[in-house]
Amino acid sequence: MGRSEPSVLWAGRFTDKPDAEAFAFQASIKVDKRLVFEDIEGSRAHAAMLGKQGIISPETAAALDGELSNIAAEIKSGKLCIDETAEDIHSFIEGVLTSRLGDIGRSVHAGRSRNDQVALDIRLYLKRRIPEIQSGIESAVNTLLDIAERHTESIMPGYTHLQRAQCVTLGFYLCAWVCALRRDKLRFADALVRLDECPLGAGALAGSSLPLDREAVAASLNFSAPTLNAMDSIADRDFALELASDCAIVQTHLSRFCEDIAIWSSEEFKFIDLSEAWSTGSSIMPQKKNPDYAELIRGKAGRTTGNMVTLFTLLKGLPYAYNKDLQEDKEALFDSMDTVETCLRMFSGMMSGARFNTERMSAASTGGFLEATDAAEYLVRKGLPFRKAHETAALLVRDCIEAGQNSILRRSLGELKKRSPLFEEDIFAALSPSSCASARSLLGGPAPEEVRRQIAVLRKSGQPLP
Ligand code: ARG
Repeated sequence: MGRSEPSVLWAGRFTDKPDAEAFAFQASIKVDKRLVFEDIEGSRAHAAMLGKQGIISPETAAALDGELSNIAAEIKSGKLCIDETAEDIHSFIEGVLTSRLGDIGRSVHAGRSRNDQVALDIRLYLKRRIPEIQSGIESAVNTLLDIAERHTESIMPGYTHLQRAQCVTLGFYLCAWVCALRRDKLRFADALVRLDECPLGAGALAGSSLPLDREAVAASLNFSAPTLNAMDSIADRDFALELASDCAIVQTHLSRFCEDIAIWSSEEFKFIDLSEAWSTGSSIMPQKKNPDYAELIRGKAGRTTGNMVTLFTLLKGLPYAYNKDLQEDKEALFDSMDTVETCLRMFSGMMSGARFNTERMSAASTGGFLEATDAAEYLVRKGLPFRKAHETAALLVRDCIEAGQNSILRRSLGELKKRSPLFEEDIFAALSPSSCASARSLLGGPAPEEVRRQIAVLRKSGQPLP
């Protein structure tokens, strides 16, 4: 095959050399090399524990620790490159240790399997990555809250079925998204709680007959506790399902928000003007300024949902306990986390450079009968049962359509009174777009003072989690 056979950890039982192409097919180093520092951290904790327990000598433990720390420093500085012909990151690190320390290097794997090693590495990695994603969510939230603060009074149409429904404020709309993103952040925090158990000592599937101190190693790696059951520790990847789902949910939120941004940046809506730095042009149509970033963030939701489905499909029906299939977990999970982290950054950048066209939004709030529900509620306040009030307002809408008018406000008081004597002069002030939005001052509503309250609550709930 024109390549030298790689050295492997399990060669002893075999007389034949591995087929080079097959070996490369089953190798995972190209994906799991990103776990290198977690792998070294885990090995250092494991070696120290082996030393304390008298499984290896204190000198051996110290030599392993020193060399592992050298290896980490050399990889960081670029002096040592990860050899991508190795089978996986665990084999690579053990191989370097052995080439440098001989039998001392060969002693590190006592009481350990790559099965518990990889289960540990991923958990350590996720414990580091999740807070980074959470801070990406927090930046997006702060960007949106800053915009919301400037637009607590900006009236816009709220839509259902993409038809104008009721008058709201832009601040209200943005706070809605912040609520969703905050739940996303909490979902990650929740995943962190379940991740916080150390699988080291679970071995291949059934622990070890050596006197490992699982509690000490868990504590030294900052886990709350060791996992309870060895087989569960190495067999399950429910944390990957959970995180891939968490990623798919954030990405779905971003995707949906970006759909609105793309629509709003159309000439037909013109609610938003994306900055040139966050737009692209066309190679053929000179006039174009396209919302590509919004579209791409929207599109990436296909990828994160796909990764989630990949992981569920991978685990479904898999015989207990470890199977090589599990190696496929990392590519999908890492891709989802990378995608979400990048998209959150892109989203924040795009939104902070955007300008909202409040005049267009306000103009779109007049005409289209957004005040119809408010007309009905006016009548309810005057004592009419809601169903009758709804019918009266519907008849007013019909009167307008027949007269070629696009708002109940175009009717005279006399015309309104023909439909209900309960209408008075104050109806005109009550049905203006800003009155309609302000009147919805209920908890959770779009009224400016209520939105200011929501912003304050949302700012406060962004405090670091306990
Ligand atoms: N690269 C493997 C994985 O990611 C490590 C565990 C290998 N274990 C084994 N028994 N082949 O799952």
